[in-house]
Amino acid sequence: MNPKCHLKRLHIQSPQASALANFYAQAFAMTCHEAKGTWFCQQEGREILISEGQAGKLHYALFEIQNSDDWADFVAQTSTLPKLSMKAYPELPNSALGFMDPDQNCMVFVFGSELGAHGSLAHFEIKSELLPSAESQHFALRTQQVENMKRFYTEDLGFTLSDVVQDETGQLKACFVRGNEMHHTLALFGAPVSCFDHQSFETPSWDELKDWADHMGKLRVEIVWGVGRHGPGNDVFFMVRDPDGNLAEISSEIEICPDSRPVGQWKHEERTLNLWGKAIMRS
Ligand SMILES: [Fe+2]
Repeated sequence: MNPKCHLKRLHIQSPQASALANFYAQAFAMTCHEAKGTWFCQQEGREILISEGQAGKLHYALFEIQNSDDWADFVAQTSTLPKLSMKAYPELPNSALGFMDPDQNCMVFVFGSELGAHGSLAHFEIKSELLPSAESQHFALRTQQVENMKRFYTEDLGFTLSDVVQDETGQLKACFVRGNEMHHTLALFGAPVSCFDHQSFETPSWDELKDWADHMGKLRVEIVWGVGRHGPGNDVFFMVRDPDGNLAEISSEIEICPDSRPVGQWKHEERTLNLWGKAIMRS
């Protein structure tokens, strides 16, 4: 059963956490504060936490479920799965449900009002910016076991499979799963290494995406991929890299999927990842 969740926050690790925080403060117009070794970067609709650690390592992804019936359904869906102790994640409420995926990425789910009651971000000053909204919407992981990861996210956590990418032999190379009606909450790319790939911020339309591109240009933050349009999701996008090399994306026009939508199938080729041209291939 689809968890009806949305991506609330990513907590990523970095050997240069303050440099990353400074990058996201500038490039994505976020207010950042450090507390007990963790950088809290926030702007309305988007959040990134950064703590010292290994580059390319996701500390956790946080999903919020806002409806109490949906939360009850998710608790039932995951009742037999092993749960993580939340003690290692002091900024999260004890009621959060945490799970390790097959690659040891931590996925945390909270009921909306619980995070509000226990979150420590509300007192932070929000910097006034003239930039358009851009909300935390999806992220992507590279994995050496894409079939196992697909099984975990769809069968164990209940995400809905939107699209698959297969090579000519039928082997799965990538897949896109959704936790709500937006085409993907998470993309999984088969790759030689397992690591964090990118996060994406959804902006309302093409005009706003252009404003974000102009903002990057003013800062001399190079657009390393795009502007393009992904096949799966049909979203227009561009990507930049943070100081650790993590990709960060501004996206718009992502496909809205009815429950009845069949799973889409794509060939493993550059055009799938960018209908307009070149792609960053992960395998
Ligand atoms: Fe993306």
